[in-house]
Amino acid sequence: MPNAPRPTRIAIIGAGYVGATTAYTLLASGAVSEIVLIDSDHARAEGEAMDLNHAVPLMRPARVWAGDYADCAGAVVTIIAAGSGQEPGETRLDLVGRNAEIFREIVPRIVSHNPEGILLVATNPVDVLTHLTWKLSALPREQVIGSGTVLDTARFRHRLSWHFGVDPRSVHAHIIGEHGDSEVPVWSLANIAGMRLPDYCAANSVVLDEPTMRELFEQTRRAAYDIIARKGATYFAIAAALRRIVEAILRDEHTLLTVSSPVSGYLGVEDVSLGVPAVVGRQGVERLIALDLSPDELARFAASAATLTRTLAALPPS
Ligand SMILES: NC(=O)c1ccc[n+]([C@@H]2O[C@H](COP(=O)([O-])OP(=O)(O)OC[C@H]3O[C@@H](n4cnc5c(N)ncnc54)[C@H](O)[C@@H]3O)[C@@H](O)[C@H]2O)c1
Repeated sequence: MPNAPRPTRIAIIGAGYVGATTAYTLLASGAVSEIVLIDSDHARAEGEAMDLNHAVPLMRPARVWAGDYADCAGAVVTIIAAGSGQEPGETRLDLVGRNAEIFREIVPRIVSHNPEGILLVATNPVDVLTHLTWKLSALPREQVIGSGTVLDTARFRHRLSWHFGVDPRSVHAHIIGEHGDSEVPVWSLANIAGMRLPDYCAANSVVLDEPTMRELFEQTRRAAYDIIARKGATYFAIAAALRRIVEAILRDEHTLLTVSSPVSGYLGVEDVSLGVPAVVGRQGVERLIALDLSPDELARFAASAATLTRTLAALPPS
């Protein structure tokens, strides 16, 4: 059958909480036909694949298996979720040494089998590891994507939606910069129904004062710490974020998502990867949207980029 469509394969490196939950979320979406799980703990990947396969008769047809790097061949997207997560009290940047070493091992192995596919990084610190992946892979920058601040943006919209009492999908507000402590809320451009927040508040008798804004952002920024202190890891929302990015790629949606992307000359920032609004489609990151930030937001974005630049510079040589 020369014209038979190729199956839509997604490879996931790291079948831990994030990798396995993402596999389940992709399976439930029905958008993919093959999911291969690759983990240095092969038994764990096998166990997850068995469990996931038993859900297939209750969902949509798909093939799920525990494989090896050779199975990355032909994957439209390879998701990297391998490595350590934060222990209670640890920052994401604390993970960099351990996880950079893992990336030096796995990225060349993925690319040797699949130089055409898109690499989607979830492991923390995601921005530093996205940049490292770009350098290690030598792929065009549009092909290397980090989950960036897609999750933080969802958390922010969720907090705002509670405050305003509207569907979070109707709240347009972004977090940019590091997926971590230096991330930046773009209050100046946030809107509901096309109305900037001060106008929306005035028209709808809602109060949004400085202490409330600080608290809504703090709840967003410290969400991972609050969840990890209670249940040890976060995985549902990141899995939904990864599914959203994969869907934007598979469906060539040209959707605007605050993924982490290697930037050069973006709002004065050079040679670092960080969360910025990007148009995502079948080729990966098609272009970046330069936001018209307030002077304070611009300064905070530059500071966030500087934090990441310092962390990259301090990476031990391979
Ligand atoms: N980007 C985000 O928004 C976001 C959100 C949540 C978690 N994370 C990050 O995702 C990563 C994974 O978190 P988790 O909770 O799934 O951790 P986990 O410990 O449950 O899973 C990690 C998996 O990686 C595997 N692994 C380790 N070294 C490997 C190697 N060299 N090759 C292949 N597999 C290897 C382990 O065997 C394990 O199964 C962490 O870095 C975490 O901080 C990112």
